[in-house]
Amino acid sequence: MRENREKSNENRTILLRCSLSLSTMAFFSAHKSATAGIPTSTSSPLYSFSNSFSGADGSFKWLYTTGAVLLGLLVLEQTVYRVKKRHLPGDQWTIPLIGKFADSMHPTMENYMKQWNSGVLSAVSVFNIFIVMASSNEYARKILNSPTHAEPCLVYSAKQILLPENWVFLTGKTHVDYRRGLNNLFTRKAIGMYITIQDAITRKHFAQWAKDFSSSHQPIMMPARYLNMDTSLRVFCGDHIPEEATKEISDKYWLITQALELVNFPLALPGTKVYKAIQARKIALRWLTLAAHRSKIEMANGAEPRCLLDEWVQLITDPSYTGRRDFSDHEMAMVVFSFLFASQDAMSSGLIYGFQHLVDHPEILAKVREEQDRVLQGNLDTPLTLELLDEMPYLQAVVKESLRVKPPVVMVPYKSTKAFPISDDYTVPAGSMLIPSFYNSLHDPNVYPEPDEFKPERWLDPTGLANSSPKNYMVWGSGPHRCIGVEYAMMNIALVLAIAANSFDWNHQITPKTKEIEIIATLFPKDGCLMKFTPRTN
Ligand code: HEM
Repeated sequence: MRENREKSNENRTILLRCSLSLSTMAFFSAHKSATAGIPTSTSSPLYSFSNSFSGADGSFKWLYTTGAVLLGLLVLEQTVYRVKKRHLPGDQWTIPLIGKFADSMHPTMENYMKQWNSGVLSAVSVFNIFIVMASSNEYARKILNSPTHAEPCLVYSAKQILLPENWVFLTGKTHVDYRRGLNNLFTRKAIGMYITIQDAITRKHFAQWAKDFSSSHQPIMMPARYLNMDTSLRVFCGDHIPEEATKEISDKYWLITQALELVNFPLALPGTKVYKAIQARKIALRWLTLAAHRSKIEMANGAEPRCLLDEWVQLITDPSYTGRRDFSDHEMAMVVFSFLFASQDAMSSGLIYGFQHLVDHPEILAKVREEQDRVLQGNLDTPLTLELLDEMPYLQAVVKESLRVKPPVVMVPYKSTKAFPISDDYTVPAGSMLIPSFYNSLHDPNVYPEPDEFKPERWLDPTGLANSSPKNYMVWGSGPHRCIGVEYAMMNIALVLAIAANSFDWNHQITPKTKEIEIIATLFPKDGCLMKFTPRTN
């Protein structure tokens, strides 16, 4: 409730700001015309007409001029929108100034679907930002794979929070080169080391879940988030940050998520969400910079790599390495921060829906358990390794299918850097926002029959429809900015679900909101997924 109230206050502020800026412009124009045209007895008929409507203080004339300017601006706004939109489906007229602002503040899957179903390309305008939505696989992929015409466009607040110099804002060749170095942090060898850390942290959290979730149903939303945060921080920074830092960063990180709304109050004034997120980032970056510093010292003293930062330091100090080596502590910290930023929401969404899909399909959960029993030969406390996960194709199909049915990221905003001839008969104007949808590709009935059904079996046949159409599986995006953390995220979700299946009996309290979707950048069940976990009996 409080959050909603805060949100609507913020909306009002933005609306107020915009209407203020328009009336300021109108006032400025009116003022200029008033001083430029000094009235004389030889004034034009038009002037006489306006003069006859003037009050003693000239207020009618001011009103008249303001009205004319406003009308001109409104006509201009509609004309620009229609010229850009041309024949694309979408509203014929845009709501003056704000466009579809209300929809963007309260996004719902129903509204998105309506827009996507209106055409493979459709147009919409929010605050005079002209937006082209692409719902088909062909156009979504074309946007993501045309770096000379389109590049990612993060929400306005992202630069304030991540810092403008962060690598995630790089594009073109500089981005490709930077990313090539970072890909080394997600090799199979590196991930094989991370899994040991993930296993240990997950079991530690489940010891706590066994207490917290055993007597009544609780939403797993926040505990799952904290588990992900703790795991990622330990995978990225190992013991280079103390226990209390993990807690402090995790606690503050929610403030960062909340500040990532599409539209936010533009000034980071004390009390605003962006301000709080910046304070949270400062705290996190201080710890992460310290971690990078400590990693460099330990690795210089000949220690074995025990986390992602150690891997990175070892890589860039290896005499045979030909890539860039001069990464400052601060720069390394920003990279780790970007990984946390990119992963937290999406991985939490993927994990929570993984729990919900499995608990609501007990026959599938039973098959996961059969596979666990078989591979672990009844020793369910055995720490998981990559090799063991390789022997669990059913578990992997479950994760893949869960992410398909409820993709954490349903679309990503890009912007056209120049006029983009996206189809034979339509060119996206330069400077437009382009939003490729992943959801439609992932719910295409020609590739995934009964697309809304959770059917891990569809992934088990290597020659089946799903496996034969990898281009449709857009959970991770596509092209030069495709998710760098794919294997890490898949492995983490699989591992957490497996250990939970082995450790607990699960029970789900279904509520009227269970099937409803809350969009907080990524997708979540509206009731937070109310679960009860008791020690496994069967
Ligand atoms: C279920 C979990 C996740 C999902 C669904 C997901 C999805 C995505 C998507 C859709 C993109 C944009 C791709 C594009 O523009 O084509 C992306 C980018 C990115 N993701 Fe993930 N992600 C997940 C987890 C992670 C994790 C765990 C990490 C960190 C290790 C991560 C790091 C990144 C980074 C750094 C980018 C930007 C890459 C670039 O610009 O080159 N993600 N992710």
